[in-house]
Order: sequence, then C-alpha cells, then structure tokens
Amino acid sequence: MAYIFVPKELQADENRVAATPATVKRFIQDKLRVGVEKGAGEKSFFSDEHYEGAGAEIVSDAETGFRSADIILMVNPPTSEQIELMPAGSSLISFLCPFQDVPVIEHLAKRKVNAFSVNSIPRITRTQDQDALSSQSNLAGYKAVLLAAVACPKIFPLLMTAAGTLRPARVVVIGAGVAGLQAVATAKRLGAIVEVSDVRMSVKEQIESLGARFIDLPVRENLEAASGYAKEASEEFLRKQHEILCKHLIEADVVITTALVPGRPAPKLISAKIVEQMPKGSVIVDLAAQQGGNCELTVKGKTVEKFGTTIIGTLNLAGSVPVSASTVYARNLQSIVLSQLDKNKKFAWMMDKQEVSDALLTYDGAIRKRETQ
Ligand code: NAI
Repeated sequence: MAYIFVPKELQADENRVAATPATVKRFIQDKLRVGVEKGAGEKSFFSDEHYEGAGAEIVSDAETGFRSADIILMVNPPTSEQIELMPAGSSLISFLCPFQDVPVIEHLAKRKVNAFSVNSIPRITRTQDQDALSSQSNLAGYKAVLLAAVACPKIFPLLMTAAGTLRPARVVVIGAGVAGLQAVATAKRLGAIVEVSDVRMSVKEQIESLGARFIDLPVRENLEAASGYAKEASEEFLRKQHEILCKHLIEADVVITTALVPGRPAPKLISAKIVEQMPKGSVIVDLAAQQGGNCELTVKGKTVEKFGTTIIGTLNLAGSVPVSASTVYARNLQSIVLSQLDKNKKFAWMMDKQEVSDALLTYDGAIRKRETQ
C-alpha cells in the first residue's frame, strides 16, 4: 500500500496545500495511505480534524513523514533539507521549473527521487484535469483584476445617474493565455471596456467571444509553437508591437499583463516612457513579475508608484485565494497520482504516457528533461 505524504509548505507567503480532505478521501478509497503534516492545511482553512475525518494520519514531525513516503505531494519545490529526507525510489509531485530549479532537480536525481513537475504537463485534452498551471493561472487572472479594481481611482462600469454619467474604465490585457482570458472575462463582468493583445492570432476568436476587442498587430510572423505556447518574438516584431500597443496603453485606466514565452525572461512590453504617458491614477498588474515582468518598472513582489501609475508586481496571486487554489491544485495532483495506478492499485510511473514522458524530470537517479518545456 503506497504511502502519500503531504508536508506543510515552508515559504512564509505560501498559503496553499497539496491535498484537501476531499482528495485524501479519494486516495484512501483507492487503497493508498495518506499522512498529512500537522497544520499543513491551516492557511487554506483545512484543519487537522478535517484531514483525520477523511482518513489521513496526522504526522507531527515532517522527518518521519518524508522518510516513510512513497509519494510526496507539495506545492513549491522542496528545500535541500527536505530532499535529504526523501527515500531513494520515492516520487515527488510539485511545481518545479526545469529552467529555474536546476540545482533542486540535480539534488533530486542524486538522491534517486523521481520528480514529476506540474509545470511540464503537456497542454493536451486528456491531461486537462492534471493541468495545475491552468488551474492556478485562472485564479491569478481573476485576482489580478480585483486588485486592479481596488487600486483604481475609477469604477469599472458605465454608470448613468442623475448626477451625471461615469464612463466605463478602459482595461488592456496583454497576453491571452489562461490567466489573460480569465482577466478579460472578469474585467468584462465588472463592466469595463476591454482590449487585448497577443502574438498568437488564434486567440482572436476567444477574445471576441468574451466581448473584448483584439488589438491587431499587422505583422506577418507566426508566433505560435506546435506546443500551443508562444515563440520568442524578434526585436523587429517587439518594436512594432510596442508602437501599436502604445496608443492603447496611454489611454488605459488598467493594464493586466501576462505575456510569457516558455524558458525565456518575460518580454518587456511596457517601457518607462509609456508609463509616463499613462493617465495619472492608472494601475498596472504585472502577472509576469516572477519572470522579470512585462513592464520595465515592475518590482518583483512589490507595489510601487511611478509617474502616478500604481504598478503591482505581487507574486503568487493564486495563493491569495488559498481555499480555491488548494482545492483545484489538490484535484490536479489527485488526477496525476490516480492515473499512475495499475489495475492492482500499485503506483508506478507509466513511461509510455506523454505526460510522464514530458513531466518526469528525474527518474532512477538520472535527469531526463532540462531544455524542453
Ligand atoms: P503562457 O502563460 O505561457 O503565456 C501567456 C500568454 O502570453 C500566451 O497567450 C502568449 O501567447 C502570450 N504572449 C507571449 N508573448 C507575447 C507578446 N510579446 N505580446 C503579447 N502576448 C504575448 O500561456 P498559458 O496561459 O500557459 O497558455 C499556453 C497555451 O496553452 C495557450 O495556447 C492555451 O490556450 C493552451 N492551453 C491548452 C490547454 C489544453 O488544451 N488542455 C489547457 C491550457 C492552456
């Protein structure tokens, strides 16, 4: 009977947890044992009693949990102390960036821990229920708009009152992936006028179906890779995009930026010069802050004011709605684990499955993936 261990996340600003009482219950139905570190769910408002009620064992010291684990479920990459406690042959499932977490991946390989990175799950229909990037980006896109609405000195909807008419706020969303599309939908629901820029022309239809306007880039360059992600744009492309975007940005009350290219620093799409021309009181929420930011003036993890514009570079927005974020993240991990049980409920990585081939970064002491997404 495989033993799953769910430790408490160690980062001070992390409120999420990798299992919920509901997923514990499901694992137990499938004949797995689950240990949850004492207090692991506290910041997501799941108590030890809830986990116990679902059938988990509450583990008071993490060391015992790690040392007995066959499968370790986490949100963030483990620390080197945690890796030292993981048994050879055990499996870790967590966020783990093949490009940024190289020392962690090397350490996991050295310790013969099989590490599955939820960052690297292929975006195919069959793995939608495992797609933690989507489940978390979706929430980040929603929360970004709420933060912007709170910081913005104008209301979002059109308001016609006896005291006069208030025009709707103008919102520009840059990057219409999962977070961007949710930002568009949320800003529309709040009544704003929404314009969107993306380098993948295939998103135009999705944007228009949400009632927003696509900002056309009259540049002939196919920037959608076979994986569905954006390819890196040429200098020339970015220069022209900058010129076109500028006209829209200097009239925007709110800008939500989410533009990313896998394995590359975030493209710089909003220069200091543009910020200087934006209306005073405008707000930029930079969801690409972790990867360096789409705005030249973004400060990672901080909210700053420049030329009268508030620039929000807060990280981990999904973690700011931990009940929702943990609920969907835990379901993603549940789907991953259950998909790797054979008919006798024995857990083993099925190497012929595309998600395992793409996302299992280390296996049996070797690093399998590094350069690819
Ligand atoms: P992402 O977080 O990697 O990038 C965000 C957005 O930024 C993308 O839409 C990208 O095209 C855009 N971008 C990059 N450079 C830009 C620039 N210079 N200017 C403006 N926009 C720029 O993307 P995410 O959200 O991870 O989604 C990646 C792809 O995967 C999308 O095509 C999405 O529809 C697809 N997907 C498919 C799923 C499935 O079929 N199961 C599930 C989730 C996503």
